[in-house]
Amino acid sequence: MERTLSLIKPDGVEKGLIGEVIKRFEKSNLKIVAMKKLHLTQTEAEGFYAVHKERPFFGSLVEFMTSGPIVALVLEGDNAIKRNRDIMGATNKDEAEEGTIRKDFATNIEKNVVHGSDAPETAVTEICYFFNSFEIAC
Ligand code: CMP
Repeated sequence: MERTLSLIKPDGVEKGLIGEVIKRFEKSNLKIVAMKKLHLTQTEAEGFYAVHKERPFFGSLVEFMTSGPIVALVLEGDNAIKRNRDIMGATNKDEAEEGTIRKDFATNIEKNVVHGSDAPETAVTEICYFFNSFEIAC
């Protein structure tokens, strides 16, 4: 059993895709063990994406991620990290497989609807960034 963090980004919320994204997770047997809607501050978005702070797109990414509310979820299941990434598709929608969330709904490489943890260590860090132990139901 593995856990991963998923974010439905401001573009996904704005486009009314919360239900569609959750439906895809549940159809794939990824169990939602925590979920909340929130609006990130600049400091919170910069902290979450600190690993990218030297990248040229960092400022734009932080502006985008603070532009509206997001939904944060903890998904649980066998191989949850990879399975979530398969459901999301590649970061760049032009490289994403048919039938993935990003292929179906992303606007561009930045406004790509969802985020998912990329490895076990980052999953733990990212889950703890958004949730405390009392907010995760097993
Ligand atoms: P995510 O999976 O959340 O991880 C980092 C985010 O930065 C990524 O999705 C995109 O939203 C954004 N991103 C990654 N690469 C680029 C890029 N080349 N240009 C703009 N935004 C990017």
